[in-house]
Amino acid sequence: MYDNTLQNQLFDRSKSFLNIDLSIENYDDLVEMLVFHEWKYYVDNSPLLSDFEYDQLYQKLVTLEKVDPNIIRTDSPSQRVSSDLSQQFETVPHWNPMLSLANSYNLEDLSDFDKQIRKLTQIEEESITYFVEPKLDGGSVSLVYEGDELVRSATRGNGIAGENITANAKAIYSVPLKAKFSKHGIFRAELRGEAVIEKGVFAKNNKVRQENGLEVFANPRNAATGGLRMKNPLDTKDRGLVLFIFQLAYAVDKGGNDVLPTLMQHSSSLDILEGLGFKIPRKEKQICATIEEAFEVCTTWENKREEYNYEIDGAVVKVDDIALQNKCGSTQHHPRWAIAFKFKAKQATSTLLDVEYQIGKTGAITPVAKVDPVHLAGVTVSSISLHNEEFITQKDLRLGDKVLIERAGDVIPYIVKSLQELRSGTEKKIVFPTNCPFCDTTLSKAEDQAAWRCENVVCDAQNLQRMIYHVSKEAMNIDGFGKSYVEKFFEYGWLKDISDIYNLDYDKIAVLEGFGEKSVENLRASIEAAKKNPLHKLLNSLSIHHLGKKASKLIAQQINSAFDLVDWTEENFVEIKDIGPVVAENVMYYFDQPANVEMLRRLESYGVNMNQTEEDKPKQAKEGAVFSGMTILFTGSLQTMGRKQAQALAEEHGARNISAISSKLNVLVVGEKAGSKLKKAQALGTVQILTEQEFLEAIA
Ligand code: IVH
Repeated sequence: MYDNTLQNQLFDRSKSFLNIDLSIENYDDLVEMLVFHEWKYYVDNSPLLSDFEYDQLYQKLVTLEKVDPNIIRTDSPSQRVSSDLSQQFETVPHWNPMLSLANSYNLEDLSDFDKQIRKLTQIEEESITYFVEPKLDGGSVSLVYEGDELVRSATRGNGIAGENITANAKAIYSVPLKAKFSKHGIFRAELRGEAVIEKGVFAKNNKVRQENGLEVFANPRNAATGGLRMKNPLDTKDRGLVLFIFQLAYAVDKGGNDVLPTLMQHSSSLDILEGLGFKIPRKEKQICATIEEAFEVCTTWENKREEYNYEIDGAVVKVDDIALQNKCGSTQHHPRWAIAFKFKAKQATSTLLDVEYQIGKTGAITPVAKVDPVHLAGVTVSSISLHNEEFITQKDLRLGDKVLIERAGDVIPYIVKSLQELRSGTEKKIVFPTNCPFCDTTLSKAEDQAAWRCENVVCDAQNLQRMIYHVSKEAMNIDGFGKSYVEKFFEYGWLKDISDIYNLDYDKIAVLEGFGEKSVENLRASIEAAKKNPLHKLLNSLSIHHLGKKASKLIAQQINSAFDLVDWTEENFVEIKDIGPVVAENVMYYFDQPANVEMLRRLESYGVNMNQTEEDKPKQAKEGAVFSGMTILFTGSLQTMGRKQAQALAEEHGARNISAISSKLNVLVVGEKAGSKLKKAQALGTVQILTEQEFLEAIA
């Protein structure tokens, strides 16, 4: 789904976004990043950001969307819960959405949560009972019981529907196959819980895997989530999963009446489940009369987290009273009556041995610390990015320093600080290179930028990175031509710059080990296909600093050939809506370099498309379209077509779809059971309201 280069890139960009104020222009990028990080977390099981950092990015997104609700994309992470649907198992809908949790990090956050609860429930003075639970770090599972029998189990999936893993759930010994729900007047129930692996079992599992030459798991969570999706339930059994139940999400009697409110408290529902044989995450003190007390419980557990048999990455504070929970309700993403209290990321110390320098596709030099290998939250860490020179100077890092390392969110290690009190006096200053470590060109740095760059257009090391990006899915998408081939061919001297990709000697490749006739033929076919790519893809694939996909598309709409840009001035660029002086300056700089233009000429001579194609042209709405220049929004359920189909029709007839009611909305189309959006639009008084039938007549 994402190749390594792109992952690297998205990671770097996410990190840089953390440190800057974002504007609407960054919105699309931000959505792309968050979708990627969700995928890393929920699908790929290897998150790159700490939850805290993810939250920061997510908050930036929410802020931008608040400033201008018109920009909200339907694929924005704020519009859905995350997805882990793999195709192995049948997809089944959950009876209630399986939500996530909002996060808190300190007493202040928890106090805000308490205030919010009081506002929602209109309780001013009276005590609110909170129930605190360990936040187990594993995989979410739902269990459905009917007539006292386990009938279905599912993973969380996208929150609305998950994967049917009933056979595997049965292989988890802490899951009762039968439970006497009828004793409590319950005919049908849906339970939620977390499948985890005991730390000791995890370590043993990994040892056996290592001995058998299998890849070891990075952490117990990965082993648990993987264990839920084994194709053979026997493998799930061998993984030694444990399922802790943390919620009775649904309970009805034979007549279909909701039994939950009669149980009164969340804690009493857990007592019932415990009585029925389920495993509940118990701790010495869980019921708290105030939010301060809940905070104390959280910090006590945090201080003792290493003593527990299971990985816990936080605590969950829940309103205990079920009636109050119902008053609070939920957002699309999380219940408003519960919040996670996240524990601090894990830390370790090591010695900073050396600093190496890497170069990116736009010439940025990244320092990387080599440290004495240290075991941290399940993996061995020996290389840590230091981001840029300023990071080193700000933290006053020196070679030989003892450093404090943190693996926030499990994967990316980070140097928190050097332990200066441990210095012996032999530590050496880190001298950032003045010249490119690869081609010796003097490095330069723009005033407002953190990175030193090599501006040598023909720097081999940079060209290598550019070629890796060029062939990737994100750029020219040359199927079957991955990073390892680029590196190999580069090493053989067959690739020096992007143009060489289109002038390969296939006979030479055919005799390489691992290459058959068929694979050479496939490679040739992919390269031939890439030659026909639209112009915007080519522009984006050149790794011009600050020129991303969106800007490439906007520019490609305005030119006949890539070579037009040789003569373009800043004025030409900034005339295009959404293109600013930074993009202009960088593209002009690129086309000012004769070596770049020569390289493009070579591309042209090898048959790579340099001209505007149909795909590059701006999409035109139908002539004289009825909704030309208008914004439109569909609400309620439509009878004759799906939402997407309706939006596409509206676009065809000149409208722009937006997703929130504001003064910017021109037309609201109401389907059946339209709710608050209709009311809001009516209140505004400026929105034209159409029924589905009227909309269809308008475009007929
Ligand atoms: S409550 C309304 N309680 O954490 C229900 N979740 O980050 C929302 N988790 O998807 C969840 N321990 O898989 C809840 N004691 C606990 C939990 C817990 C672990 C997981 C759960 C959820 C995720 C959210």
